[in-house]
Amino acid sequence: MKPTYSKSSRSSAGPEETGPAPDSRTAGGDGASPLLSVRGLVKTFPGRRVLGRAAAPVRAVDGVDLELAAGETLGLVGESGCGKSTTGRMLVRLLEPTAGAVEFEGRDITHLSQRELRPVRRHLQIIFQDPHASLNPRQTVARIISEPLLVQGATVRAARDRAAELLDLVGLGSEHLDRHPYRFSGGQAQRIGIARALATGPRLIVADEPVSALDVSVQAQVVNLMERLGDELGLSFLFIAHDLSVVKRVCDRVAVMYLGRIVEIGEKRELYDRPAHPYTRALLSAVPLPDPAAERRRERILLLGDPPSPAAPPSGCGFHPRCPKAQAVCRTERPLLQVVGSGARTAACHFPETG
Ligand SMILES: Nc1ncnc2c1ncn2[C@@H]1O[C@H](COP(=O)(O)OP(=O)(O)OP(=O)(O)O)[C@@H](O)[C@H]1O
Ligand code: SF4
Ligand SMILES: [Mg+2]
Repeated sequence: MKPTYSKSSRSSAGPEETGPAPDSRTAGGDGASPLLSVRGLVKTFPGRRVLGRAAAPVRAVDGVDLELAAGETLGLVGESGCGKSTTGRMLVRLLEPTAGAVEFEGRDITHLSQRELRPVRRHLQIIFQDPHASLNPRQTVARIISEPLLVQGATVRAARDRAAELLDLVGLGSEHLDRHPYRFSGGQAQRIGIARALATGPRLIVADEPVSALDVSVQAQVVNLMERLGDELGLSFLFIAHDLSVVKRVCDRVAVMYLGRIVEIGEKRELYDRPAHPYTRALLSAVPLPDPAAERRRERILLLGDPPSPAAPPSGCGFHPRCPKAQAVCRTERPLLQVVGSGARTAACHFPETG
């Protein structure tokens, strides 16, 4: 999955933020247009009513900027509830952003109507975490994979032929066309989900924790399949995962998300070898190492407590109540993403590791 464009990202500024905002193309961009570009993306959900009183709104995504090149795979990693799925769903316009803009192939698609979106949807697809829950149990595999093609105006015959080709492509075989999803294992069902996402010839696929619900032994097979398809078909992926181990193999760049914001983003090698943000370091310390001697020496950084609620985020740096490096300024001033190290990476921390 080789990118034809490399870039960086930063969160948008809030009123209490300090420090110069880096140009989002300063960290490794070559000036070519990205396939997808997201600016200042925000999603606020209304607070749920408790005992008749409305709770505070939930700022699930709080000013995210991202770019994805053609053929690139970007990992989006963070703990449960940090806003990964909400971000992914806004990118493919399954959710309306509260603020910000989504550009696909240079066109602003943020406010397109459903009718205007239809031709764009061909190129923007999503794969969900739970393969069985995302496949209609009453439909055959042929029908499930054909559905997006029929919506785009294909004939039933042509859609079925294409479904057969796609089943071969994902390694299942066209003999499965007339079976129902419940007859398949989790890994096989996810292959059907992938075939459905590929049906319309997409350029970008948001894969929302596509292997989290699968047995560990099957996870690698599905990741390998996605990597192969990405290379063969020149696809871009936003690959969402809870932890850094899943995305290590498959991604070109990785973005780490905390409390609705990107806190570090950069080229995979640099981010894994020299994590700059304390949260990235903590996530990385949880990843088992393949070398047994190194694995024995591995020190876990245990994060205290749960992530704060996005309905009541902490002041200053959202990570300060759990951060082992927090100082007084962290409680009052929110850090912006700033270029760290060689410039191919940015991190939102007042005291980033630079070694
Ligand atoms: N429809 C909704 N209404 C209200 N709050 C929501 C809604 N969808 C998500 N949220 C809240 O927004 C925040 C971000 O949710 P999101 O599902 O994007 O997180 P996530 O990073 O994908 O988590 P997970 O790893 O568990 O899938 C959470 O606090 C969640 O409770
Ligand atoms: S800004 Fe302060 S609290 Fe936030 S991650 Fe950096 S050191 Fe920790
Ligand atoms: Mg999610």
